[in-house]
Amino acid sequence: MKLLAGKPGWTTKADVVVIGSGVAGLTTVLNLRASGLSVLLVTKALLDEGSTKWAQGGIAAALGPGDSPDQHESDTIVAGAGLCDLEAVKILVTEGPEAVRKLIARGAIFDKSDSGEISLTREGGHHRNRILHAGGDATGAEVSRALLEAIKGDPGIEVIEQALAIDALQDGQGTVCGVTLHVIGEGSRDGVGQALSKAVVIATGGLGQVYSQTTNPSVSTGDGVALALRAGAEVADVEFIQFHPTVLWRDTTEGGQQPLISEAVRGEGAILLNHKGEPFMVKKHELADLAPRDIVAKEIFTQMRTANVPHVWLDATGIKDFEGRFPTIYASCKANGIDPTQQLIPVSPASHYASGGVLVDLNGQTTVAGLYVCGETACTGAHGANRLASNSLLEGLVFGARIATHIAAHLPEQVVPVEDQNEGFLLSPAIKLQLQLAMSDGAGVMRSEESLLQTLATLSQLAVRTSSEPRIEAWEASNLYLLALAIVRGALERKESRGSHWRSDFPLTDPLWSKRVVQRYNVKGQWSTRYLEVTQ
Ligand code: FAD
Ligand code: SIN
Repeated sequence: MKLLAGKPGWTTKADVVVIGSGVAGLTTVLNLRASGLSVLLVTKALLDEGSTKWAQGGIAAALGPGDSPDQHESDTIVAGAGLCDLEAVKILVTEGPEAVRKLIARGAIFDKSDSGEISLTREGGHHRNRILHAGGDATGAEVSRALLEAIKGDPGIEVIEQALAIDALQDGQGTVCGVTLHVIGEGSRDGVGQALSKAVVIATGGLGQVYSQTTNPSVSTGDGVALALRAGAEVADVEFIQFHPTVLWRDTTEGGQQPLISEAVRGEGAILLNHKGEPFMVKKHELADLAPRDIVAKEIFTQMRTANVPHVWLDATGIKDFEGRFPTIYASCKANGIDPTQQLIPVSPASHYASGGVLVDLNGQTTVAGLYVCGETACTGAHGANRLASNSLLEGLVFGARIATHIAAHLPEQVVPVEDQNEGFLLSPAIKLQLQLAMSDGAGVMRSEESLLQTLATLSQLAVRTSSEPRIEAWEASNLYLLALAIVRGALERKESRGSHWRSDFPLTDPLWSKRVVQRYNVKGQWSTRYLEVTQ
């Protein structure tokens, strides 16, 4: 069932439409151009908006002395808690180093040591220093800058900013042949239009805004996952929402994007302390404070609940030249009245990353012809039940290149879309906050059947608040609603605890659940579920 929107008032065309200008979208665009295809790049806000520019810690790649793709593979698989797809991981870690070298060749500048070598740091779940970083803790901003610079001035790329992709255009067989989009523009590209193409690549990033507190920027409303669901594509692993353990806690009810305190701060020696000032990770995992993210987030949550406190502490006072190494984090701590060189930093977990997404194969193809998905929107299987730190930027680089190669080798003829006769659906933007609070409350770090059913009941109540006024906030709210349903349904289905899915009523990992929950949504608005065995 598509979203309610006006009839397209204008049309544009390209070989390929790429939706989203983060690391995944931009890498795909650059590689499509290397094959000579024309590209229309549409992006919801300004070109550099999205999670990519906020990335702090860095990019993981086995480039350091003594490191190898095999060791990176092993750490990725351990973090993924039994649900990684082995082939996807192998591709990520073996093609990763070359993808990073290509990014450097495209102009990205990473921090170097005094001897001129690229500096590598460590984050949770990594047994080696293998994280490249830029500007200290501003890696994403540098990646975004370099990629945007590389697409500049190419007449084969048409860019439309402030363009929100609404739904896929499909022919009579369901093949995707473009998208409808809404542009805040002037002249001929204003309002709802259609972009026709031979293939569509969705790279719309994450869905952190489904929760009331998140590290994700405001554009991360999961539009691409919702669009793909409405086009008939399958989603997988959506119950695995990763909560970053160390998000700056502020004594405020303000929701939305929260300042992140990178795991790299722990990589450089900071340690977590409970409300009594005691370190608590040492006894919990051989990697202590650098255990995989799900394990640290759970332990922080447990500490907070047991002591009935709203946060734990991060002690970074032992880090030399904190301001030089982590300028962004230093600034956000100072802006919140904390001097991290002298004081403990209050931290608590917040929604950070969607380990699942639209189910794709190793070339980014969805189960719908003509539709490809890349980056955080996709479920390649590389992350399993919990993504290893700094593997996301890498995934965008590696799979963006693969998708472009596949499209270039298999580009079909342009097909003609059929008009969708179903009445579109739209919810009121006023549901957003209630939806986010319900999700944080019942489908957050810890869930149970009771809390999830309660969230489902709230979502049903919100579903009656429809709207007949198509506009950006209403499309986003409707997308958030669809994703919230998929997450809650997946979380109810999975009766075990694994990775970042923690059920208080099923606290143990059950080998019978070593499979993906795959969901689909049909034109009548009905859901179906199947399971996919994992090859590991
Ligand atoms: P994004 O970079 O989010 O880009 C999505 C794009 O799609 C944006 O341009 C957006 O405007 C556009 N868009 C969205 N909806 C629509 C629509 N309907 N129509 C048109 N355009 C649309 N990962 C790491 O590997 N290392 C790190 O150090 C790291 N640190 C992080 C720190 C923070 C604070 C956050 C939030 C994430 C971090 N991550 C990190 C995760 C990583 O940044 C993201 O997963 C990754 O950047 C996602 O890239 P992407 O290209 O898939 O999406
Ligand atoms: C961080 O810097 O802690 C975030 C890294 C990531 O999400 O991969």
